[in-house]
Amino acid sequence: THKGFRMIKGIHFPHEVDQIRDLELRDSDVFVATFPKSGTIWMQQILLLLKCKGNKDSICKKDTLNNGDLVPWIEGPEKVQDFVKAEHPRYYVTHLPYHLIPQELSRRRGKVIYVARNPKDVLVSYYHFHKSLLVLETPKSFDEFFDKFMRGDVMAGSWFEHIKTWFSHKDDINMLFLTYEEMIQDLQIVVKKIAEFLGADLTQDQLNSVVKHSTFRNMRQDPHANYEKTDGVLINQQAGCFLRKGTIGDWKNHFTVAQSERFNEVFKQEMKDFPVSFIWD
Ligand code: PPS
Repeated sequence: THKGFRMIKGIHFPHEVDQIRDLELRDSDVFVATFPKSGTIWMQQILLLLKCKGNKDSICKKDTLNNGDLVPWIEGPEKVQDFVKAEHPRYYVTHLPYHLIPQELSRRRGKVIYVARNPKDVLVSYYHFHKSLLVLETPKSFDEFFDKFMRGDVMAGSWFEHIKTWFSHKDDINMLFLTYEEMIQDLQIVVKKIAEFLGADLTQDQLNSVVKHSTFRNMRQDPHANYEKTDGVLINQQAGCFLRKGTIGDWKNHFTVAQSERFNEVFKQEMKDFPVSFIWD
């Protein structure tokens, strides 16, 4: 853990994380901020498609391994140096807590799209991801992982802290707050909202193309969006994948009644003043 951020050994380095706060931004910079498993790679795909007006072939180069090459995690290895040299507009994703992100955001330089997802589904998605991502510890059981998540003993820490802190600063920065569930319910409307927020000028046909290529089914078939190619060490493809189920309510297939009640209790306590309600099924 570094300054409240639970990191992955070998991927996140304290001195690099510290450099992020001082990055100089431009108005065109965009960060997608999420707690893990809340829609990060979905938003990566949408941003890329908006950038190339619905025609991804125009920006994927021969050596592009996956969307993470084009919309990288700012807290990844050597990403700070890349950020300084990157072409504009720069689109990055992050799981960092609010207090570690570039300070210039609070001077209203650059934009943030925060995506939140109902935390029961986040927990389930995270559990499965732990089984496939080689740098994360394989859970002994769902029960064990459930406890870890509730304690905030997972990469990025406590879901409750992450969302509450980010949300409390929503009016201090240029932020669009979205939920995974509203994306599931009407992707067309959400894509339009994002395009407006970014000032992206697309025709209706181009917007339709963005939506079409961002559906779960089409992302699964897109070799860059589905992360079928990583550098070979990141994912055990037999054990799982990024694009697993893509639904609302899978928690019901995993939580016991007791776990659900315990979760509800903690949620009620932690989120009592939180003005956004989630869709759970
Ligand atoms: S990560 O590892 O933090 O970057 O993961 P993240 O991308 O935030 O979350 C992965 C979950 O998002 C789902 N996903 C989608 N759902 C619906 N439609 C689309 N297009 C889509 N793209 C990604 C993905 O399937 C993971 O959720 P689960 O519940 O595990 O399927």
